[in-house]
Amino acid sequence: MIFEHVTTGGCQSYLVGCPDTLSAALIDPEVSQIDRYKALAARDGLHIRYIIDTHTHADHFSAAKQLSRMLDAPIVMHQSSPAPHAGLRLDDDDLLIIGKLRLRALHTPGHTRDSMCLVVGDRVFTGDTLLIGGTGRTDLPSGDPEQLYDSLFGKLLKLDPDLLVYPAHDYKGRTHSTLGTEIAENPRLQKRDRAEFIRMMRDLNLAAPTHLTEALRTNMSGGLTVDQMLAEAAGEVPFIGMEELDRRVTARPNDLLVLDVREADAFAAGHIPGARHLARGQLELRVNDAIPDPTMRVVVYCDYGKVSTLAAATLRRLGFMRASALDGGMKAWREAGLHVEV
Ligand SMILES: [Fe+2]
Repeated sequence: MIFEHVTTGGCQSYLVGCPDTLSAALIDPEVSQIDRYKALAARDGLHIRYIIDTHTHADHFSAAKQLSRMLDAPIVMHQSSPAPHAGLRLDDDDLLIIGKLRLRALHTPGHTRDSMCLVVGDRVFTGDTLLIGGTGRTDLPSGDPEQLYDSLFGKLLKLDPDLLVYPAHDYKGRTHSTLGTEIAENPRLQKRDRAEFIRMMRDLNLAAPTHLTEALRTNMSGGLTVDQMLAEAAGEVPFIGMEELDRRVTARPNDLLVLDVREADAFAAGHIPGARHLARGQLELRVNDAIPDPTMRVVVYCDYGKVSTLAAATLRRLGFMRASALDGGMKAWREAGLHVEV
């Protein structure tokens, strides 16, 4: 088996390939590592045929949708996954054929309703069902401690104790364990009584993961993260530096329009000299009045430079082909001691 392990701040992804046929599956890819997965597959000569998410992740952004598009490979998830982009949905005990390898899916709900463990050869990818020295939490959407108990004690822990355990998370730098070691040493698995295990899981009182809402929103729908949306917009517009804009504004050329897209009270409290005001919320509806000549050079600004980037991208899409955004915002403009008009 060709095997690659990629760690991203505690998230673990795995690339599993058949050495004879060079077919491969990628398990739990994370969005910041897309180029790394592709490079590893290329280095090993692997063709990624399946992109598998062991469950709907609530704590990080899955790269499944982007990779699926790039590699023309289906996203594999459990039958009950809410993700509309999951193209291949598995039931309990379904096999995926990866060249000469066989990957068996076990439905192990508990951490989430759609959690799966994946058995390939001598190892099991446990997702967040079983971690090294821990288990996945059961207090996030669709989590259920009773189901986790049944999935662990009724199913996963009954497999061969020599199976190597590769979880979806480890924050202490450990790469793997075995089922036998976990049964013997994992503190959570020492609660073998059903009621006691469930009480322990209910009493954990864990803090919510950062980005919970955004991770669930994007992983369940395939939609963009806010950062992705900003990066997309930034790729569609040029920027202009503050000092350069200050020089141009002072020279008052006829073909430059500076557009302030903040709220009206912020504009009234001080703006770039000569700027015209059009709040971001009104942009599409009032743009024809605010910028009568589509051939004008337009520089958009806001407080910090993010809303203006989105607004400039919108203007470009609307046909204002010389729209750009200020590199920075009114806050940085004031701090730099540049001219402010009230
Ligand atoms: Fe998870």
